[in-house]
Amino acid sequence: MTQPLLEVRDLRVDFRGEMGTVSAVSGISFTVQKGETLVIVGESGSGKSVTSLAVMGLIPQPPGRIAGGEILFHARDGQTHDLAKADARTMQHLRGAEIAMIFQEPMTALNPVYTIGAQIVETIRLHEPLSRRAARLRAIDMLALLGVPEPQRRFDAYPHELSGGLRQRAMIAMALACSPSLLIADEPTTALDVTVQAQILDMIARLQKELSMGVIFITHNLGVAAEIADRVLVMYAGQTVEAAPAADIFQDPRMPYTRGLLKSIPRLGMDRDAGPLPTIPGTVPNLGEMPRGCAFHPRCTHALPDPCMARRPDLEPVTERHVVRCARWRDIAGQPA
Ligand SMILES: Nc1ncnc2c1ncn2[C@@H]1O[C@H](COP(=O)(O)OP(=O)(O)OP(=O)(O)O)[C@@H](O)[C@H]1O
Ligand SMILES: [Mg+2]
Repeated sequence: MTQPLLEVRDLRVDFRGEMGTVSAVSGISFTVQKGETLVIVGESGSGKSVTSLAVMGLIPQPPGRIAGGEILFHARDGQTHDLAKADARTMQHLRGAEIAMIFQEPMTALNPVYTIGAQIVETIRLHEPLSRRAARLRAIDMLALLGVPEPQRRFDAYPHELSGGLRQRAMIAMALACSPSLLIADEPTTALDVTVQAQILDMIARLQKELSMGVIFITHNLGVAAEIADRVLVMYAGQTVEAAPAADIFQDPRMPYTRGLLKSIPRLGMDRDAGPLPTIPGTVPNLGEMPRGCAFHPRCTHALPDPCMARRPDLEPVTERHVVRCARWRDIAGQPA
């Protein structure tokens, strides 16, 4: 087995608030290989963004802090860095050059007072010894590669002069300009219409192949995961509740929560008049008031007083590459979700 590009071990991220300290991420582990796409899914508040911000070294501190675990990143020079403990200088060097992130809202990453061209050029020159002219050519190439029409003209545009889809592409161009080996994409397409969404997913997939990039893709939508994932990690209330190769998640989901998410995927050709898609009743628990036992039990149709309401389940292996956090995964196999 070659060394993974990224190995997260038992990561814990705490936030201090009025109600005391809560763990937004409590003991997540996963790996990303070169060229692999890991999709992290889960409802709002499950800890997906906090996980990715931890990898980027961008947890706002205070109120947050990485309270435990390791984030081992294998850099191009052969060194392994623990990003959970890396100093600001190391992080600054790795961010952009080797690890890049695209955000749900492009304006999080774009500065409204500079042209998008100037911003892409600055990112490139921060990490590579290129002349302004060479960086400009690279930036225009990136915009063209991302399907931005008239890239020379768009290079001189300010973010507000572009449509949402073009802004998103400009941000992706900026993220990819230095050919990072790890790309984190946090819901990069939810705000866009379906056609643009599909184009952007295609582009990421193409660039990933070209650059052999590892990708962590975050989404609410298991339908998106079905299209791009090699592996899927399902998060609930700050923990992994199921993780497996994509085929196993779609053909053999074991956790009732995963099955609930699968039922809410919109399907092509579905009758729009048939009513809204089923959603999982109830809401993600408040981190300060976690239920006893399994965090999902108040919403689970399979929950029993013992064990589900009594004990917190461990992550158990279903196969060598498939894990699930459900005390009843053996009993409910074959039962409807
Ligand atoms: N800056 C912060 N201060 C305090 N608590 C925070 C902060 N950021 C995140 N949290 C806590 O972490 C939890 C998980 O947040 P996170 O943003 O990771 O969710 P998410 O899975 O990305 O959700 P979404 O799908 O809505 O983006 C939140 O419910 C919140 O309790
Ligand atoms: Mg988020």
